[in-house]
Amino acid sequence: MKNKRKEILKDLLGEFGSEESGEEDIESPDEKTYEEPVKESEYVPEKLDSEEEDFSSDYYFPQKSETEEDSDESYLPRKTEEKEKKSLFLDDDEGEYHLDSIMRNDAPAERNISQPKDDKPKVDRTKRRTKKIKKMSEGIKAEIIEEGLIPSYNVNVPKFTERERQLLNEIREKLVEVAVSQGEKFQLNEGSFIGEVKEFLKMRGVRDTDKLATQISQEMLGYAQLDPMIKDDDLEEIMVIGTDKPVFVYHRKIGMMQTNVIFEEDTDIRAIVDVIARQVNRRIDQQTPILDARLADGSRVNATIPPVSADGSTLTIRKFRKDPLTVIDLINFKTLSSHLAGFLWVCVDGLGVKPCNAIIAGGTGSGKTTTLNTVTSFTPPRERIITIEDTLELQLPHNHVLRMETRPPNIEGKGELDMDTLVKNSLRQRPDRVIVGEVRGSEAITLFTALNTGHSGFGTLYSNTARETITRLVNPPMNVPNIMIPALDFIIMQNRMYRPEGGSIRRVTEVAEIVGMEEGNVQLNRVFEWNNVVDKVEYVGIASQTLREIAELRGIGVTEIEEEIEKRRLVLEYMADNNIRSITDVGSWINEYYRDPDEVLEKIL
Ligand SMILES: Nc1ncnc2c1ncn2[C@@H]1O[C@H](COP(=O)(O)OP(=O)(O)OP(=O)(O)O)[C@@H](O)[C@H]1O
Ligand SMILES: [Mg+2]
Repeated sequence: MKNKRKEILKDLLGEFGSEESGEEDIESPDEKTYEEPVKESEYVPEKLDSEEEDFSSDYYFPQKSETEEDSDESYLPRKTEEKEKKSLFLDDDEGEYHLDSIMRNDAPAERNISQPKDDKPKVDRTKRRTKKIKKMSEGIKAEIIEEGLIPSYNVNVPKFTERERQLLNEIREKLVEVAVSQGEKFQLNEGSFIGEVKEFLKMRGVRDTDKLATQISQEMLGYAQLDPMIKDDDLEEIMVIGTDKPVFVYHRKIGMMQTNVIFEEDTDIRAIVDVIARQVNRRIDQQTPILDARLADGSRVNATIPPVSADGSTLTIRKFRKDPLTVIDLINFKTLSSHLAGFLWVCVDGLGVKPCNAIIAGGTGSGKTTTLNTVTSFTPPRERIITIEDTLELQLPHNHVLRMETRPPNIEGKGELDMDTLVKNSLRQRPDRVIVGEVRGSEAITLFTALNTGHSGFGTLYSNTARETITRLVNPPMNVPNIMIPALDFIIMQNRMYRPEGGSIRRVTEVAEIVGMEEGNVQLNRVFEWNNVVDKVEYVGIASQTLREIAELRGIGVTEIEEEIEKRRLVLEYMADNNIRSITDVGSWINEYYRDPDEVLEKIL
């Protein structure tokens, strides 16, 4: 790859790319010292991360299918040792087990579910299945079994005994009373809450108040059984679909998985929904049975309660990526080709004369917001970016970014700040770039007015084809006048394709350029398209109008622009080859290129 890059650079740069260009100083990437980029579609379920341990470690992950009787008791650990029966309570003999034991990391070997239980033909399940234990934090682990129609994701959050649950419910009722009496002023401090719970438990004769108080606090103020899933960065989505049904998760590499968590009571799901609502100072009730919110870690949440959701309360959590995907990841995953990435870099930059406008369109969960984030990251550092979103998702490496978030109406139906209001407001804030997270309503006209008056903007839009994107834009509820559409330069179509073996791949399937209007119809020109045979996003070869415009305004030829695309492509390929992929690293390489392109090109030779 390095030699090829050198050859192309020599062609592009003439003398500059000669052998004497300081090769000594620039170390060639030692293949072995760099981690091979993970191809999204080539996931080998060997080891999920460094914290994972082999299944031979003795954790107990209750699963219905693993127990002899398919009873509700199956969630409880088997009663193997007398001491485990010891109750937490002085006066309690209902307690089936000691909470300590289920949380214990050194549980006895008999607890290992792979251990044969009787004299039936012994099947060593560890051999048959791919099992991994993933440790999220102390005491929080998940077991991953990649087998069957739907792989399993089992968590080891302890269950409460009947007695403990009674106490929990009493505390919950008391808390609700306090919350109701204090109204809007109600605020909860986790530290003092645990203290008060301990006092209460002591009064009720509980011996080990520390552990139980912490667990009660986690159940009431945290996300209870969802906690391990919320802490697992490998999950893309967590889906609670009602009572008496398993919670599902979407694993970034394995795909859809079924968990061992089943909420039997709607109040248990509601308790989590209420915690989330409280954190963002919103309410979910009969009048407003839908909640859109954000968790403290940035994850996007949608919750519904009956009667809107027929089978109980639901929760859909789109996990926030602490380490966001960058253009280099997208190249490694083959979502984009390096050529397309170089092309978009030049168009987003506009070489100082014509920054392009674009809409990233596609189906739900196809990766639109992620591609929007990577495309926006090409914005030159001297520009002022204003982002407007329903839930803050974008993570840009730039310093000069104003992040705006919409606000739903309060309980009296007042105080709403919708997309349109924020887009209008952004135009008074002297933006260089207006980024709208999701275009779907009247804000579309405001955005297109901005684009028609010389602003630059990007956004995402839900649609299946480039043509449909236009149809949706010009029809209700967006109602953008046809005549305004040509202010848009590109529609980048992104799709998510599911794989029969599990997981999915995401591809930019088309980049359509808007080239004008003919007899009232918007004319589209396909510049890039996905070739599914070779699985590559390829340049169609029809000269892009945007490139011609940039060339004209710069007073240079299109060939020079194409050379510039090639140079940037090589920089991106160098970064991909050398695993330079974090948002900060990619951001600083892009900035370096803006500062001194020749220096960067010299570095990658
Ligand atoms: N190219 C990609 N390759 C692999 N994973 C991706 C890619 N793009 C996005 N993802 C992951 O897929 C999930 C959904 O991505 P994203 O939020 O960008 O999709 P979206 O189309 O904006 O979804 P929505 O329709 O819900 O707004 C995220 O967890 C993200 O990390
Ligand atoms: Mg999105």
